[in-house]
Amino acid sequence: MSWLNEEPRLRRALSLATGLAAGTVLALAGPANLAAHAASGTLGAAAADSGRYFGTAVAAGKLGDSTYATILDREFNMITPENEMKWDTTEPSRGNFNFGPADQIVNHATAHGQRMRGHTLVWHSQLPSWVSSITDANTLRSVMNNHITTEMNHFKGKIYAWDVVNEAFADGGSGQHRSSVFQNVLGNGFIEEAFRTARATDSSAKLCYNDYNIENWSDAKTQGVYNMVRDFKSRGVPIDCVGFQSHFGTGGPPASFQTTLSNFAALGVDVQITELDIAQAPATAYANTVKACMNVARCTGITVWGIRDSDSWRTGENPLLFDNSGNKKPAYDAVLSALGGGGTGNSGDIVSGTVYSLTGAAAGRALDVPGGQTANGTPLQVWDANGGANQQWRASQNGDGSYTLTNVGSGRVLDEPGGQTGNGTRMEIWDANGGANQHWRASRNGDGSYTLTNAASGRALEVPAGQSANGSPVQVWDSNGGANQHWSFR
Ligand code: XIL
Repeated sequence: MSWLNEEPRLRRALSLATGLAAGTVLALAGPANLAAHAASGTLGAAAADSGRYFGTAVAAGKLGDSTYATILDREFNMITPENEMKWDTTEPSRGNFNFGPADQIVNHATAHGQRMRGHTLVWHSQLPSWVSSITDANTLRSVMNNHITTEMNHFKGKIYAWDVVNEAFADGGSGQHRSSVFQNVLGNGFIEEAFRTARATDSSAKLCYNDYNIENWSDAKTQGVYNMVRDFKSRGVPIDCVGFQSHFGTGGPPASFQTTLSNFAALGVDVQITELDIAQAPATAYANTVKACMNVARCTGITVWGIRDSDSWRTGENPLLFDNSGNKKPAYDAVLSALGGGGTGNSGDIVSGTVYSLTGAAAGRALDVPGGQTANGTPLQVWDANGGANQQWRASQNGDGSYTLTNVGSGRVLDEPGGQTGNGTRMEIWDANGGANQHWRASRNGDGSYTLTNAASGRALEVPAGQSANGSPVQVWDSNGGANQHWSFR
């Protein structure tokens, strides 16, 4: 099915436009461009721009919640059923299959062009007691294989990747499989058997091993899974991908996470971040996680484990990208930015390391350090653009997705005076110190300009309303969408 294959929305929009009569194309040139920009303004579209997906766990029971469904269909292009494909739901008693709740999710995905990750076929948890009480190996082998074949056949052609086996390794220092009915009754070979059965059932779905606490390269558990994948690849046991659940504490991913991803990828498997959530959702921790994936060519996608904090299984930890009301949290902006969306990476967007002149849209004049003045504390103004170094600003992106803007003439950065956050505070230049008062969030406006919001005050960079003369001050004020708060980067 065509929606199983990645096709960035940009390309779709362009081919749509080229399919129209010449006159119509001209008339649509503006909107088509806007669509291309709007596309990189969502998680799914920004990920698709680099051939990746951005997904979320979905609960069938929430599809009727309009806030939930709106965000789901706007932002995400991959779906993992949070519980609906697990054994306790799909085969609650032997041979008695129930795919209704999962079908609801799959139907939603089909209708909205989203792909599906199947989760999960063989797992010790959410396993009905009729399975965990089996003690005869032949019985359990046939029960396991029948479960895999029946479930995979039901969804055949609709699943991009299956978590064939979930969480089979033990925590701690052993590096061995954990105790489970499958391990205890069938022995070490049960994982291999599950993968072979899965491949024989559906040769086009990708087959993944999925686990948590395998993100830190030196951990025994990580090494155990790595050795298994290496062994599978060397013996031709079918495996296509490894999922790193990535349920992180406030500190976010371990420093070695990218190393882990690339070492697994080097074995010849795709890697994915499959259940991402981070306690309290620090923006930098999220950005670091996404960057680790972006830096590994075979890291093909990222899935967060729920949409709003209120949807999370980690009650009270606020680990997701949207708050309880469905508003984007700072972590959202950081993720979008790390994916290359919403401000970087596309033509016309702010590219880190590039020198720009910033023009206030209402005043039509450039952000300027008064000629010859370079000291800390020099107050900023607007002036006719003249190409001088005092009007040149180098944008460099910070870990939280914001920008630091360094004035080329003075070598000092665009600064909101420390501790001053009120409306009307005049901006200055100061030595770069990494403070939030020197961090500016850029959000793109419909006219292609940007609103620059200071990370310390939360207020927008502006020329006071009604002032446009040379020498008019540059200050911060509550964001109000006015042209005097719009800055174009050229
Ligand atoms: C969790 C779900 O989010 C909860 O709703 C459910 O009660 C328990 O399972 N690892 C996994 C996921 O692979 O399936 C788990 O999902 C979270 C940990």
